[in-house]
Amino acid sequence: MTSIRFSVILLGISLSGFQLQAQDGVLDLTTLANYASQPIPAYITRNNTPGNNAITNAGATLGRVLFYDKRLSRNSTVACASCHQQAKGFGDTATASTGVSGTTGRHSMRLINSRFSAEVKFFWDERATSLENQTTRPIKDHAEMGFSGTSGDPAFADLVTRLSAIPEYRVLFSMTFGTSTIDETLIQRALAQFVRSIQSFDSKYDVGRATTADNQPFANFTAQENAGKQLFLAAPGPGGGAGCAGCHRPPEFDIDPNSRNNGVITAFGGATDLTNTRSPTLRDLVGPGGQSNGSFMHDASLTSLDQVISHYNAIPGDNTNLDPRLRRPGGAVQNLNLNQGQRDSIVAFLRTLTGTAVYSDKKWSSPFNAIGELTLIILPPAAVSLQNNGNGTATIACTAAPNLPYQLEASTDLKTWNPVASVTSDANGTLTQAVTVAAQVFYRFTYTPPTS
Ligand code: HEC
Ligand code: HEC
Repeated sequence: MTSIRFSVILLGISLSGFQLQAQDGVLDLTTLANYASQPIPAYITRNNTPGNNAITNAGATLGRVLFYDKRLSRNSTVACASCHQQAKGFGDTATASTGVSGTTGRHSMRLINSRFSAEVKFFWDERATSLENQTTRPIKDHAEMGFSGTSGDPAFADLVTRLSAIPEYRVLFSMTFGTSTIDETLIQRALAQFVRSIQSFDSKYDVGRATTADNQPFANFTAQENAGKQLFLAAPGPGGGAGCAGCHRPPEFDIDPNSRNNGVITAFGGATDLTNTRSPTLRDLVGPGGQSNGSFMHDASLTSLDQVISHYNAIPGDNTNLDPRLRRPGGAVQNLNLNQGQRDSIVAFLRTLTGTAVYSDKKWSSPFNAIGELTLIILPPAAVSLQNNGNGTATIACTAAPNLPYQLEASTDLKTWNPVASVTSDANGTLTQAVTVAAQVFYRFTYTPPTS
């Protein structure tokens, strides 16, 4: 069950208010978390945000609720977050993830820094043409979330009907998009805004990169980490490196959009699959404690970073879609002949690409409490200002949820309330209204959620 809490502001001779404690399962729309203007290092330049879907604090907040809401699956047991877990870099350590009707056809992908890639197509095989397009595919997948409209499943339209009946969503969509009429495009935009907001730039690598170019040793790195960085960057060849940067391009470590497959060609079940040409960023392969967020690759076949390096050290077999960068002149598949020390240094370098905040920051965690409840705060508990304008009027101002229509009401006895004005908050949530100064008048803002 969910509920909306309508808090009340009273003002009279003196201002009164009360402070709510920040609680699990309470989403305060009057103080939205910062998703829209997070600091991004100057050396990060790739950004796949489309012009019509910039991140807003309201939109990413709605996306967060959708991402963690199990009601987006047929039988209300699976959310996006079931397979994209914050503690695991928004991935899953299971080889295949469990959906409403069976398991996934590929290994789950980490969703960190999805925004900062030149490749705008998503999934291991890049079948989604944009992040927006991607976000409702798991919902429509029979095995994953089960609104497929086939195999006895409800259709996506049934999900729209389900969400439209939930008052909280009518409020959140109104706040974000100015309409409580929910449709697939708006669901996609909100989910994509939340996914794009998930960023990780507080790694050991970022500390070094902030002052030093990639091809110079970082002062904060060990000799082994610097050696691994050089091997990662340098092209293969006599006395050369491992050539990783040719496809996983620093400082984003996003995949080159022209990449073909890397020689990992087995699908779950053993069939050959040559189509997997995308990788998530190589940031956050391991968590802040050094624990693996893997296994790695679309088939989760490489269970450690050492196995990953072993794979590239000697590509195990040829195929017709193998990336030419993994061949040597003459056509033979790559054999780097790296010694164990070199392999260890590349692993040590990869471990420097892990951040901290993205694993714990509440703005990316579940807004629901342990039993799946969510309460929205729509009116601020206090922090109302009353500015006497000196000409018989005063201005009431406070911060509420952005872009919502509120009603200002007045009372002399705190029992009977009369409407004074309708006031719509601005994009920052600011509500202002001029009133006539009079003794012993109390004011309150009220909010009525859309009924359809
Ligand atoms: C049952 C598990 C499961 C659920 C639920 C799920 N995903 Fe995924 N997700 C996966 C798997 C597996 C992949 C890789 C699939 C593939 O490439 O074929 C993936 C891939 C993705 C990608 C592509 C990342 C990239 O870098 O290309 C995004 C984005 C994503 N999921 C977002 C979501 C969102 C948003 C939801 C909820 C609407 C969701 N997922 C629900 C398992 C899941
Ligand atoms: C020719 C391009 C290319 C080169 C060079 C390359 N990779 Fe990859 N890498 C890929 C592709 C494509 C994938 C996704 C493969 C899949 O899952 O089928 C991938 C996947 C990975 C993954 C798994 C990511 C995950 O989320 O599971 C890691 C780790 C990785 N590469 C590390 C490296 C390292 C280290 C090097 C250098 C030794 C390297 N790669 C060189 C193209 C390349």
